Amino acid sequence: MKAPVQHGESEYNLSGKIGGDANLSPRGQQYARQLPDLVAMSAGSRKLTVWTSTLKRTIQTARFLPFEKLEWKALDELDSGVCDGLTYGQIEERYPADFAARDDDKYNYRYLGGESYRDVVIRLEPIIMELERSEDILIVTHQAVLRCIYAYLKNVAQDQSPWMEVPLHTLIKLTPRAYNTDEERFKANIPAVSTWRGETST
Ligand code: F6P
Repeated sequence: MKAPVQHGESEYNLSGKIGGDANLSPRGQQYARQLPDLVAMSAGSRKLTVWTSTLKRTIQTARFLPFEKLEWKALDELDSGVCDGLTYGQIEERYPADFAARDDDKYNYRYLGGESYRDVVIRLEPIIMELERSEDILIVTHQAVLRCIYAYLKNVAQDQSPWMEVPLHTLIKLTPRAYNTDEERFKANIPAVSTWRGETST
């Protein structure tokens, strides 16, 4: 199985800020403590390898998992450049044209001084190659990166992938089969803010 999860709720998630390298919120820490049970529910007694990004919120989320862990820079969140640390509302106010351009073509839009989804897909190539030849990997990463990995494994169209809802505190178990990929979701019973932004909401 290949199981992507997002980090637990972070302090930045609570204040609606994007990017950064924040610590987990108290609820995020609770999720980290519950994650070993969620993993046992989805993987049974299989021995997994855990991949995290190099950012604190994924490392803290994986902290209690009793498996070998590997940090990948390529799993860091999409770089939001000059918008790092801002809320969507602040971005819309300070960079209205950019904000609209991102909504028009979210896959190709590249933040000023940062990345686009297309850029992230390219930097994920080594991860995807390693993932293809590995069994039983748990990937603790970030919203945009998770969307890209999920879209690859589930064959989601490029224009749709950046808009997918991938909630916090939810483990997605993906099992590749001959012609498709089975999916099961395991949700922890710990509330979290929604980090999903629809095409019309800020
Ligand atoms: O809000 C959490 C977050 O991981 C941000 O750090 C990141 O910029 C954003 O999600 C990516 O989601 P979207 O591409 O929908 O803005």
